[in-house]
Amino acid sequence: MTILDILHYPDARLHLKAQNVTLFDSKLKELINNMANTMYENNGIGLAATQVNVQKRIFIIDLSKNDEPRNLITFINLEILEKSGEVLSEEGCLSVPGIYEKVYRSETIKVKFQDENGKSHQNEYKGLMSICIQHENDHLDGKVFVEYLSNLKQNFIKKKLKKIFKPE
Ligand code: NI
Repeated sequence: MTILDILHYPDARLHLKAQNVTLFDSKLKELINNMANTMYENNGIGLAATQVNVQKRIFIIDLSKNDEPRNLITFINLEILEKSGEVLSEEGCLSVPGIYEKVYRSETIKVKFQDENGKSHQNEYKGLMSICIQHENDHLDGKVFVEYLSNLKQNFIKKKLKKIFKPE
Protein backbone atom coordinates (compact mmCIF):
# COMPACT_ATOMS: atom_id res chain seq x y z
CA MET A 1 0.00 0.00 0.00
CA THR A 2 1.40 3.37 -1.02
CA ILE A 3 0.84 6.40 1.17
CA LEU A 4 1.74 9.63 -0.60
CA ASP A 5 3.25 12.72 1.02
CA ILE A 6 0.74 15.54 1.52
CA LEU A 7 1.93 19.10 0.87
CA HIS A 8 1.31 21.52 3.71
CA TYR A 9 0.19 25.14 3.47
CA PRO A 10 1.90 27.51 2.69
CA ASP A 11 3.90 25.27 0.31
CA ALA A 12 4.06 27.13 -3.04
CA ARG A 13 3.24 23.90 -4.91
CA LEU A 14 -0.29 24.11 -3.51
CA HIS A 15 -0.76 27.11 -5.78
CA LEU A 16 -0.01 25.28 -9.03
CA LYS A 17 -2.91 24.93 -11.44
CA ALA A 18 -3.83 21.38 -12.43
CA GLN A 19 -4.24 20.21 -16.03
CA ASN A 20 -7.08 18.15 -17.48
CA VAL A 21 -6.74 14.38 -17.55
CA THR A 22 -6.75 13.00 -21.10
CA LEU A 23 -5.50 9.45 -20.57
CA PHE A 24 -7.72 7.09 -18.55
CA ASP A 25 -5.21 4.28 -18.16
CA SER A 26 -3.97 1.93 -15.46
CA LYS A 27 -1.51 4.57 -14.26
CA LEU A 28 -4.42 6.90 -13.50
CA LYS A 29 -6.18 4.14 -11.54
CA GLU A 30 -2.98 3.49 -9.59
CA LEU A 31 -2.72 7.18 -8.71
CA ILE A 32 -6.37 7.27 -7.57
CA ASN A 33 -5.78 4.14 -5.50
CA ASN A 34 -2.72 5.71 -3.86
CA MET A 35 -4.66 8.92 -3.24
CA ALA A 36 -7.48 6.92 -1.60
CA ASN A 37 -5.03 5.06 0.66
CA THR A 38 -3.45 8.38 1.59
CA MET A 39 -6.81 9.99 2.36
CA TYR A 40 -8.05 7.08 4.48
CA GLU A 41 -4.72 6.80 6.31
CA ASN A 42 -5.04 10.47 7.30
CA ASN A 43 -8.77 10.21 8.16
CA GLY A 44 -9.70 12.72 5.48
CA ILE A 45 -13.00 13.00 3.62
CA GLY A 46 -11.49 14.50 0.49
CA LEU A 47 -8.15 14.77 -1.29
CA ALA A 48 -7.10 16.57 -4.46
CA ALA A 49 -4.17 15.53 -6.66
CA THR A 50 -2.56 18.94 -6.10
CA GLN A 51 -2.16 18.03 -2.41
CA VAL A 52 0.08 15.09 -3.34
CA ASN A 53 2.04 17.24 -5.83
CA VAL A 54 0.34 15.91 -8.97
CA GLN A 55 -1.00 18.69 -11.20
CA LYS A 56 -3.95 16.82 -12.68
CA ARG A 57 -7.65 17.61 -12.34
CA ILE A 58 -8.50 14.69 -10.04
CA PHE A 59 -10.02 14.63 -6.58
CA ILE A 60 -11.67 12.02 -4.42
CA ILE A 61 -14.33 12.28 -1.73
CA ASP A 62 -15.74 9.74 0.72
CA LEU A 63 -18.41 11.00 3.11
CA SER A 64 -19.36 7.59 4.54
CA LYS A 65 -19.47 7.38 8.32
CA ASN A 66 -17.13 5.11 10.27
CA ASP A 67 -19.78 2.39 10.68
CA GLU A 68 -20.76 2.47 7.01
CA PRO A 69 -19.03 0.79 4.05
CA ARG A 70 -16.61 3.02 2.17
CA ASN A 71 -18.09 5.07 -0.66
CA LEU A 72 -15.28 6.59 -2.67
CA ILE A 73 -16.28 8.96 -5.45
CA THR A 74 -13.68 10.07 -7.99
CA PHE A 75 -14.14 13.39 -9.79
CA ILE A 76 -12.02 14.01 -12.86
CA ASN A 77 -12.03 17.16 -15.04
CA LEU A 78 -14.93 18.56 -13.02
CA GLU A 79 -16.63 21.75 -14.16
CA ILE A 80 -19.13 23.69 -12.12
CA LEU A 81 -21.97 24.54 -14.50
CA GLU A 82 -24.30 26.37 -12.12
CA LYS A 83 -24.23 27.49 -8.51
CA SER A 84 -26.88 28.93 -6.25
CA GLY A 85 -27.39 29.97 -2.65
CA GLU A 86 -24.75 30.58 -0.02
CA VAL A 87 -23.75 28.65 3.10
CA LEU A 88 -21.23 29.34 5.83
CA SER A 89 -19.67 26.23 7.28
CA GLU A 90 -16.54 25.07 9.04
CA GLU A 91 -13.92 23.43 6.88
CA GLY A 92 -10.67 21.64 7.48
CA CYS A 93 -7.98 20.36 5.12
CA LEU A 94 -5.27 17.69 5.23
CA SER A 95 -2.88 20.35 3.89
CA VAL A 96 -3.73 22.68 6.78
CA PRO A 97 -3.77 20.25 9.72
CA GLY A 98 -5.42 21.29 12.95
CA ILE A 99 -7.04 24.39 11.47
CA TYR A 100 -10.84 24.62 11.19
CA GLU A 101 -12.38 27.84 9.91
CA LYS A 102 -15.72 28.95 8.54
CA VAL A 103 -15.88 29.92 4.87
CA TYR A 104 -18.69 30.76 2.46
CA ARG A 105 -19.61 28.37 -0.33
CA SER A 106 -22.42 28.04 -2.82
CA GLU A 107 -25.24 25.96 -1.39
CA THR A 108 -26.16 24.00 -4.50
CA ILE A 109 -23.95 23.22 -7.48
CA LYS A 110 -24.59 21.57 -10.80
CA VAL A 111 -21.47 19.88 -12.13
CA LYS A 112 -20.17 17.70 -14.90
CA PHE A 113 -17.18 15.42 -14.48
CA GLN A 114 -15.65 12.17 -15.59
CA ASP A 115 -15.05 9.06 -13.52
CA GLU A 116 -11.87 6.96 -13.46
CA ASN A 117 -12.98 5.19 -16.65
CA GLY A 118 -13.51 8.45 -18.52
CA LYS A 119 -17.31 8.14 -18.41
CA SER A 120 -19.10 11.52 -18.22
CA HIS A 121 -21.57 12.36 -15.47
CA GLN A 122 -23.75 15.35 -14.70
CA ASN A 123 -25.12 15.84 -11.23
CA GLU A 124 -26.49 18.32 -8.74
CA TYR A 125 -25.14 18.41 -5.19
CA LYS A 126 -26.04 20.20 -1.99
CA GLY A 127 -25.04 19.93 1.66
CA LEU A 128 -21.64 18.58 2.67
CA MET A 129 -20.96 17.01 -0.73
CA SER A 130 -21.42 20.37 -2.45
CA ILE A 131 -19.05 22.07 0.01
CA CYS A 132 -16.44 19.31 -0.33
CA ILE A 133 -16.54 19.43 -4.13
CA GLN A 134 -15.99 23.21 -4.11
CA HIS A 135 -13.15 22.84 -1.56
CA GLU A 136 -11.40 20.10 -3.56
CA ASN A 137 -11.93 21.77 -6.94
CA ASP A 138 -10.36 24.93 -5.51
CA HIS A 139 -7.19 22.89 -4.78
CA LEU A 140 -6.94 22.10 -8.50
CA ASP A 141 -7.06 25.83 -9.21
CA GLY A 142 -4.26 26.38 -6.70
CA LYS A 143 -6.45 27.73 -3.94
CA VAL A 144 -6.44 26.58 -0.30
CA PHE A 145 -9.56 27.27 1.81
CA VAL A 146 -7.73 29.48 4.32
CA GLU A 147 -7.11 31.94 1.50
CA TYR A 148 -10.74 33.03 1.88
CA LEU A 149 -9.85 34.30 5.36
CA SER A 150 -8.40 37.69 6.32
CA ASN A 151 -4.65 38.29 5.82
CA LEU A 152 -4.30 38.52 9.57
CA LYS A 153 -5.75 35.05 10.05
CA GLN A 154 -3.72 33.64 7.16
CA ASN A 155 -0.48 34.96 8.63
CA PHE A 156 -1.38 33.47 12.00
CA ILE A 157 -2.04 30.09 10.39
CA LYS A 158 1.21 30.25 8.39
CA LYS A 159 3.22 30.95 11.52
CA LYS A 160 1.49 28.16 13.40
CA LEU A 161 2.10 25.60 10.64
CA LYS A 162 5.71 26.68 10.09
CA LYS A 163 6.39 25.78 13.69
CA ILE A 164 5.07 22.26 13.08
CA PHE A 165 6.55 21.66 9.62
CA LYS A 166 10.14 22.70 9.08
CA PRO A 167 10.81 24.34 5.71
CA GLU A 168 12.55 22.11 3.15
NI1 NI B 1 -8.22 20.59 1.31
